[in-house]
Amino acid sequence: MNGSLRGRSLLTLTDFTPQEINLMLEVSHDFKRQKRAGQPHAIHKGKNIALLFEKTSTRTRSAFVVAAQDLGVNAEYLGKDDIQLGKKESVEDTAKVLGRMFDGIEFRGFAHETVEKLAQFSGVPVWNGLTDKFHPTQMLADFMTMQEYVGKDLRGVKITYVGDGRNNTANTLLLACAQMGLDFRILAPNELRPAGELVDQAHQFAAQSGAKITITDNFDEALIGTQFIYTDIWASMGEEDQLADRINLLRNYQVNRAMLDHTGNREVRFMHCLPSFHNLNTETGRKVHEQFGLTEMEVTDEVFNSSNSIVFDEAENRLHTIKAVLALTL
Ligand code: CP
Ligand code: NVA
Repeated sequence: MNGSLRGRSLLTLTDFTPQEINLMLEVSHDFKRQKRAGQPHAIHKGKNIALLFEKTSTRTRSAFVVAAQDLGVNAEYLGKDDIQLGKKESVEDTAKVLGRMFDGIEFRGFAHETVEKLAQFSGVPVWNGLTDKFHPTQMLADFMTMQEYVGKDLRGVKITYVGDGRNNTANTLLLACAQMGLDFRILAPNELRPAGELVDQAHQFAAQSGAKITITDNFDEALIGTQFIYTDIWASMGEEDQLADRINLLRNYQVNRAMLDHTGNREVRFMHCLPSFHNLNTETGRKVHEQFGLTEMEVTDEVFNSSNSIVFDEAENRLHTIKAVLALTL
């Protein structure tokens, strides 16, 4: 395994150069091939990692557990009620303790500062499994998936993120697409645009990479000719109390067949980090239906299940990309 990233933390993708991100993606594709071919790759036998979760998770937790297992690494899940973190012991002290025992730490939670402190004080690689601000491992899986559809070179590829343009997914996509030279558009109402400092940072990256950044509420500008439409839930974890406002702001931004047609590209791919509210098969979906009369939210069931949709490729690729991050940084 290439040793150039050993010991590094992944708090945001901006911690890495485009070359380093490409290395992670290369290794991810390799691991996918090895997994498909049934080739064992337990290259980190005997190591131990801690998985800290303040918020719930299906994909991220599963990907870390399976990736660790495949690499020969033992992963210990520490949920929000299992440890003292922040309640009875400071983040700094917790980091120091975990760093004495584990070879790496994954953190999913609320404040981005928590994952920064864990990295600062633990002395081992720390991986951000989602904070209120960023979701970097998601974007690696998204890039890997896009490469499977349009080829390895993502420069100039057109992608439109629709919806809550200031959540962790949108923030991460904005900076990552700017770093990697894509033609990235956010289609969002003015109230839900990314913070000015992130937009400035994106423009600085774009000046280096040749990326094009568009943040707009104009559907033509955002959609015409795009190759990928990406959306996320309208109220992220921890913001559930704002759902009514979000529904008002975003009901015209639903990804539906008319929006796909608006791109003029019959081959446009639909992406979503998941989980998604596209039918009434969830408790939340049913509550929203009772309160607001909606049967689908950010995406229609038809688009979600259509041949345009590549959401389960993205979900699978969480495993291969997280494995690459572990393999390279441990
Ligand atoms: N996309 C994603 O991070 O999913 P989970 O919340 O299930 O981990
Ligand atoms: N923006 C979503 C992403 C979930 C993977 C959230 O934070 O809830």
